[in-house]
This record gives sequence, structure tokens and C-alpha cells, in this order.
Amino acid sequence: MKANIKRLLKKKNKRNIICLTSYSKSITRILDKYCDLILVGDSLANVVYGMKNTHNLKLETMINHGKSVKLGAKKSLVVVDMPKDSYSNPKQALKNAKLILKKTGCDAVKIENNTHNLNIVKVLSKSKIDVMGHIGYTPQFKKKFKVEGKSKNEQHKLLSLAQSIERAGAFSIVLECISKMTAKKITNRLNIPTIGIGSSNLCDGQILVTDDMLGMSGFYPKFVKKYANLEKIIVKAVKKFSKDIKSNRFPSNKNSYD
Ligand code: KIV
Repeated sequence: MKANIKRLLKKKNKRNIICLTSYSKSITRILDKYCDLILVGDSLANVVYGMKNTHNLKLETMINHGKSVKLGAKKSLVVVDMPKDSYSNPKQALKNAKLILKKTGCDAVKIENNTHNLNIVKVLSKSKIDVMGHIGYTPQFKKKFKVEGKSKNEQHKLLSLAQSIERAGAFSIVLECISKMTAKKITNRLNIPTIGIGSSNLCDGQILVTDDMLGMSGFYPKFVKKYANLEKIIVKAVKKFSKDIKSNRFPSNKNSYD
């Protein structure tokens, strides 16, 4: 097992695992020092490519962004999301997971789970590929947003799925938009770290989409806390740039080569 995965497992029950998404070297370079885990999330379909969902993202696109992110990461564990149609059966999943890790040099892959793809986690883990699970609201498979785990029946199903993912060999699991009591129960019952997004503070760690928390995506659901308003800062800078050009203040001699 890789040293950075061992380090992550040691943080179980401390509720302080820090995770963010990144799609490029430039942002990763800034995040790396402060994160335990950086996810090359397939949310890039919405955030970068303006697609309405993550369903049509190509493997090649994830590989290209994975390569870029890896170039900026010195210490964080870098996990790449497998796009929807890249793990439809165990053979295809194994081939594509190997390709992602070989071409990007990243540490692990993440897949979105349901009761039908537990064997994919098993096959990847048996082949020594570190795999992260993802349950709750899983955008690759669910059409409508819904907080999950509110009823006893849903809680039971999610807990059982999480336990099966752990048994199949995953090293960690994302809990997306799961009710507080269910997130707590899953976190307490599993030996592997749970990483929450919209699933309360009772998980072992937290992840947000970086563009959302920096206030530059225009997408701010209830679970997002805006830690900055980069949109405002960018608008201010671009307005100033435009004004400087119009008034012939840029480029000045300082910005010219002769
Ligand atoms: O694609 C993504 O960014 C994700 C996180 C939101 C967990 O899966």
C-alpha cells in the first residue's frame, strides 16, 4: 500500500481529512500543501466544459486533466474519477483503471457505486489498484438530486452498501448528500475513512469542489460554504485591465522589452 494511502487511513476517526477537487496543475500547486487528497473529479464536465451532467465525459479527458494535476502535486494523494462509461464491466474497468494510472502517474481511481458494481471494486483491488467508492447522490447514475438516508430503510441500504464496498477492498468512500444520522452510522461502522460532501461534520473528512468554495463556479447549493469570492476579484481585475488598455496605461515601459 502506498505511503500516502497509509497516512490517510491513520486519520480515521479524527474528522480532519482535507480534500478538494482540482483539474489543473496551476490550482493543484496551490492546494497541495494543505490537502490530504486531491480529486480529479468528473465534476469538471460541468465546471470546465459546461456540460449539463457528467455522463458524456471521455476517458481521454480525465487522463489529460489527471496528468496536469499530478504535475502540481508533491505530497497529496491524487485520485482520478473514472468516467461513467469507462467501468461498465470488470474487464473494461481494469483495463481503463490501469490506463489512467499509467498515463497520469496518479495514485488511485474513484468510481460511483451501486449494488450492481461491487465486483468492479473487488477486481480493481485484487489487481492492486487503489480504489475509492462513492455513495449517496451519485450524479453518474441518478437523474434527480435528493438527500439520501433519511428513512430507516434508506439508512439500512446505504450502510449495507458502504460495508460491502469496504469488504470489496476500497481504501475510502465518498458520502455525498447523505443525512447526518446515516453519515454518522456509516462512519462509525467502517474501518476506512469516509469523506463527506453535503453529509454533515460527522464524516472522517470533507471534500468540496474547489471552484464552488472559491466562489467562481456560479453553483452554490446549501452544502457549499463560499470561502472566497473570486468572481468579484476577477471582475475587478478584468475591469482594471480593460480601463488601462483604453487609457493607454498598459503596457507601460515597465511591461515592454525596449
Ligand atoms: O466529481 C467530483 O468532483 C466529485 C466530488 C464532488 C466528490 O465526485
